[in-house]
Amino acid sequence: MTQASPAKVPAHIAIIMDGNGRWARERGLPRIEGHRAGAETVQRVIEACRQAGVRYLTLYAFSTENWRRPITEVAQLMKLLTTSLGKHLAQLQEHRIRLHAIGELERLPMPVRRALQSAMRATAQNDAGVLTLALSYGSRAEIVAAVRQAATRAMAGTLRIEDITEESFASLLQTAGMPDPDLIIRTANEMRLSNFLLWQASYAELWVTPTLWPDFGEEDFRRAMADYAARTRRFGGVV
Ligand code: IPE
Ligand code: IPE
Ligand code: MG
Repeated sequence: MTQASPAKVPAHIAIIMDGNGRWARERGLPRIEGHRAGAETVQRVIEACRQAGVRYLTLYAFSTENWRRPITEVAQLMKLLTTSLGKHLAQLQEHRIRLHAIGELERLPMPVRRALQSAMRATAQNDAGVLTLALSYGSRAEIVAAVRQAATRAMAGTLRIEDITEESFASLLQTAGMPDPDLIIRTANEMRLSNFLLWQASYAELWVTPTLWPDFGEEDFRRAMADYAARTRRFGGVV
């Protein structure tokens, strides 16, 4: 197979990592085992993106709505997050990848926040790529927070209404400074966005696979990239 031309490699891939629970259930295991296996997939996918030349990878790890899950699952997930962050750090440093996080981070338990802060600080100068974790993230909450900021500035007289544009509004979102995702991958066959990057996904290409997240591997990644490269993005125009 010939290598895709650089223009056909997405600059930004965002992934809705779904199906951990189903993976565990199929094996008669507790759900947390699916999340553990899913955390290992994360390391493989970071590496696959790096090798393919994808500069931005955003992973939906925990949604605002996921707080509704049973308290024991939430607690186990938070613990897993803390330990995984420690494990991922060496990989990020080795490849000069900067860690970033979006979401209502203040809702996360202290140990997770501390692990996040120290990993973000340690990788702050890395410039080969950006890994963004969406944690306690919900797109509607993100948009409402941006609206509040704009309104506050407008009332204080530091922002003119006519200066609220798509660009200036996007700069108030937590993804400010990042390109919009080119490709959104969702595993476990669900055909929905589940409150993920609603503004930013306007023109993203969507790619859904029945593969459950813990099983997501090189072959799925290669197929997603090949399908993306074969698509025509029109952005409303005529090509
Ligand atoms: C995705 O797997 C992980 C999180 C949402 C935290 P799920 O836990 O949603 O797995 P399913 O959908 O129940 O299979
Ligand atoms: C979306 O998965 C959120 C994450 C992957 C973190 P869910 O499993 O929570 O989504 P729904 O409930 O099926 O829409
Ligand atoms: Mg799910």
